[in-house]
Amino acid sequence: MKIKVGPSLLSADFSCLYEEIKSVEKAGANLLHIDIMDGHFVPNITIGPVVVKYIRKCTKLPLDTHLMIENPQKYIDAFVDAGSDMLTVHIETVSNSALKALGLRLRRKGIKFGISLNPGTPISKIKPVLKYADFVLVMSVNPGFGGQSFIPGAINKIKELRAIYKKDIAVDGGINNSTAKSVILAGANILAAGSYIFGAKDRRKAIERIRNAGK
Ligand code: DX5
Ligand code: ZN
Repeated sequence: MKIKVGPSLLSADFSCLYEEIKSVEKAGANLLHIDIMDGHFVPNITIGPVVVKYIRKCTKLPLDTHLMIENPQKYIDAFVDAGSDMLTVHIETVSNSALKALGLRLRRKGIKFGISLNPGTPISKIKPVLKYADFVLVMSVNPGFGGQSFIPGAINKIKELRAIYKKDIAVDGGINNSTAKSVILAGANILAAGSYIFGAKDRRKAIERIRNAGK
């Protein structure tokens, strides 16, 4: 499968967001990972649909919007209208029936629907709803902050999922050139990375190292 790299804007300098977006776009990013946090599901607060709307104006890259919020159903339309191409909700925040409804609704709108699970949530929890997802996002840190260390348990979860799931598997948290290798070999093909890319002197090299880590 083609490996795609999505720089996570959480580690960008928000005082010059336009330049930061252009920088990773020019450096070869395949998509832009945007972290939405509400201070309830996770202990941090970031941005909302208003900012996503302006990010949309800066780039043609697909916007991969990662909703770490309670009641995501309430905000889905706002993030779709703001220009998201991919929307991920956490299995810990919605019932299976709501996930099904969301998946069907987003499919009709042509938006890719992702279901994410925290490090503490087993793969068995998402099996009943897998058919409604276009991709699964395996968290390799407890969501809330950039710059945390990769939790190795994610590797076996990706393997377990890859054995039963043929579509895209994304991974998010603590990705660098070495953890990228493990997750790609385990079966992940979309890698979100914040601090490793935005903290690199050469962002193009950082993105290429992640993309080619499994080779
Ligand atoms: C964590 C966020 C991640 C985060 C990744 O809650 O969902 O997307 O920005 O940052 P790094 O790559 O620095 O772990
Ligand atoms: Zn994220």
